Parts: sequence; structure tokens; C-alpha cells
Amino acid sequence: MKVLIVYYSMYGHVHKMSEAIAEGVREIDGSEAILRRVPETLPEEVLQKMGSVEAQKSMSNVPICTVEELASADAVIFGTPTRFGNMCGQMRQFLDAAGQLWAKDALVGKVGSVFTSSGTQHGGQESTILSFHITLLHLGFVIVGLPYSFQGQRRMDEITGGSPYGASTIAGASGERMPSENELDAARYQGKHVATIASKLKE
Ligand SMILES: Cc1cc2nc3c(=O)[nH]c(=O)nc-3n(C[C@H](O)[C@H](O)[C@H](O)COP(=O)(O)O)c2cc1C
Repeated sequence: MKVLIVYYSMYGHVHKMSEAIAEGVREIDGSEAILRRVPETLPEEVLQKMGSVEAQKSMSNVPICTVEELASADAVIFGTPTRFGNMCGQMRQFLDAAGQLWAKDALVGKVGSVFTSSGTQHGGQESTILSFHITLLHLGFVIVGLPYSFQGQRRMDEITGGSPYGASTIAGASGERMPSENELDAARYQGKHVATIASKLKE
């Protein structure tokens, strides 16, 4: 069973979460985790000004996704940083190129799930994931989140991402904070949960 993890990450936070999602997927026997990045849309000079060139290099071993790969997966877990409370433009552009898959009902009945990262604690993680779900519903995905059986989302002893809608991390206003162990646990849980449900649907 193929679980595609497709993401955009500017400074590496969503990238780090995607690796934990993949670990969770691989916990289910017979599940293959396939990591892919969506194509960049910003010119190199803009990336330089935004200080993301080094981070981009560190992720360059992850292949760029094609929309056709969405159709060959049994489940797709999407990762995006928050941009003004929504998915990033790179992800939007990638999804907007999937119209031919929509026209052929190619994604109907597949499991879809979303995780995210934001700069600030209340900067739009939930709105990013929930608004992303609208696109997934149009494409026919069966949406899976992060249930409260992941106990780590009840924590009050530390600041943490993670909600019933999906795993998330708080990067800090300057991107100085990398995903905590609890946030990575949430990502692993979500990956495993998606793979479990997708394998039941495949049966
Ligand atoms: C144009 C732009 C808009 C952003 N909007 C938000 C926002 O609405 N809320 C927030 O908390 N962080 C916002 N951020 C911060 C990013 O979400 C943060 O850099 C990202 O989560 C880091 O993840 P990454 O390293 O995987 O890209 C924004 C960043 C940029 C560049």
C-alpha cells in the first residue's frame, strides 16, 4: 500500500514533520511511505532574500512530486506551512494542476490528511488544515485527522502543536524552534493512523 507524503517546506519545519509522518506510516506492515516535495514557485533571488536557500539544499534529496503520483497512491498526507492562515501558494498551485484528476474521479475514495506548521502559536494552524480539507473534499478524498487517542494533544505542561485536525508544529516568529518530541509523536501517530485506515479501506 502506497502512502504519499507530499509537502512544501521553506525552512525545514514541515520537512522534519514529514519524516516523522513517514516513520508512522512504516509502522504498518505492507505500507510504503513515499516522500515528495511540491515544485517551488518562487524565484531563487526571492528565496535568497527570505533566507531559505540553505534549508532548500538540505531537502534537495526529496524528489519533486507530479500530480500523476497522487493518482497512484492509496492515501495522501499533505504538509504545508501556514500562509496568512491558509496553505502556501506552492501547494495551491500544485493542487490547481490536478484538475484532470478531478475530471476523471481519479482521487475519489482515497484517504487524505493534512499537517502544518505556523510561526506563532495561534497563527492559523487549524484554519490552514480545515481550509485545506475543502479542496480534498472536492477531489473526493476521505478525510482523516489526528484523533484524541493521541494523548499528546491534551498536554498542558508545555506549548505544543497538534489538534484533532492534524499534527502541527510552532516554528517561532523567526523559525528558531524545531518540532518538539510531542509534535513529532503527533506526526508519527497521524502517519500510522492514516496507513491503518487506508489499509482497511483497501481490504
Ligand atoms: C508570506 C508568509 C505568511 C505567513 N503567515 C503566517 C501566519 O498567518 N501565521 C503564522 O503563525 N505564521 C505565518 N508565517 C510563518 C510560517 O508559517 C513559518 O515560516 C512556517 O510555518 C515554517 O515552516 P517551514 O520551515 O516548513 O516553511 C508566514 C510566513 C510567510 C513567509
